[in-house]
Amino acid sequence: MSKKITDKVSWVGKIDWELRRFHGDELSTHKGTSYNSYLIRDEKNVLIDTVWEPYNKEFIANLKKEIDLNDIDYIVVNHAEIDHSGSLYYLMQEIPNTPIYCTANGVKSLKGHYHQDWNFVPVKTGDTLNIGKSTLTFVEARMLHWPDTMFTYMSGDNILFSTDGFGQHLSTEHLFNDLVDQSELYAEALKYYANILTPFNKMVANKIKEVLSFNLPLDYICTSHGVVWRDNPAQIVEKYLEWANDYKENQITIVYDTMWDGTRRLAQAISDGIQKADSEVTVKLYNLSHSDKNDVLAEVFKSKAIIFGSPTVNKGITYAAAGILEMIKGLAFKTKKAGAFGTYGWSGESVKVITEWLKEAGFEMVDEGIRATWNPDEDALGQAVQYGIDFVGKI
Ligand code: FEO
Repeated sequence: MSKKITDKVSWVGKIDWELRRFHGDELSTHKGTSYNSYLIRDEKNVLIDTVWEPYNKEFIANLKKEIDLNDIDYIVVNHAEIDHSGSLYYLMQEIPNTPIYCTANGVKSLKGHYHQDWNFVPVKTGDTLNIGKSTLTFVEARMLHWPDTMFTYMSGDNILFSTDGFGQHLSTEHLFNDLVDQSELYAEALKYYANILTPFNKMVANKIKEVLSFNLPLDYICTSHGVVWRDNPAQIVEKYLEWANDYKENQITIVYDTMWDGTRRLAQAISDGIQKADSEVTVKLYNLSHSDKNDVLAEVFKSKAIIFGSPTVNKGITYAAAGILEMIKGLAFKTKKAGAFGTYGWSGESVKVITEWLKEAGFEMVDEGIRATWNPDEDALGQAVQYGIDFVGKI
């Protein structure tokens, strides 16, 4: 079912209530998502992006209820990732000569995925397409978050079609930002930013400043996932500028894995020490074997410091600890501090391994970390409490 945004623009996407794992298992989507496609009807008719491949039949059938496919004059592909271009392959079987406007990198990506020589029209920043009363202006947004990404601005209705930018993995029958639960909306928007856009912080800030410098009126931001921002769309732009500036709250997150409860008991003692030293700082503890990795990464994103623990296993660290450290490294967090801890029986390398990994990931290690043998006794737990107290003083 389509949804009207303005007299000329309708949402013709797909709400995916079922999605829980995305990009293989790289990203959790507890609230589902939507693949947003938009139909513009002016003197020329334009389709902006499509939906993920599994929904191609539904998408095309619904689109046919809106418009004779042969009346679509242009297709704009803001981003070639499969969740937005998967149905394009099937749509192009119906209207094979329709021009596809995308960046030069978009052409490469689309050819790489679908191996078709479609009627591509490569565009650059500042290129325009007159569609009647409105004009579309294209703005390349390289690495936000793929090399091909671009934004499309529609004059008249003052809409920025921002592809993944400003999105959230949130399925809702409400199309607009002012109609959904605000805390849920912002929690999903932050998780999305933390897990997808953090490595591109500088580019996010620079691109937003570039777009703002055009002084274009902005009434709507139509993203490719989640709600359309119509109520004060600048609010999410401002939030992005905040998040892109190496965001941190007054929070310390303790992440750990544990085998026989020893490292967990150290984690709790360290947390007690932190609370003794600073009752205002937010401390959160996450057992990595029991927690969703992307939720944990969102908490790391919010933290000014993390304390990371693992028992020693085979001279290294546990599977869950290693997995999330690899993700932390990839997200390239900046200006965050860290400590390490862990229990061991005999060789005891885990703290050293964690320290090296976090240093490589760009964290400032504030000390040598803390270790305890076997299941920590009262003396060891007391030392862990003191470690927490001292940690607060070092950050
Ligand atoms: Fe929603 Fe980068 O695709």
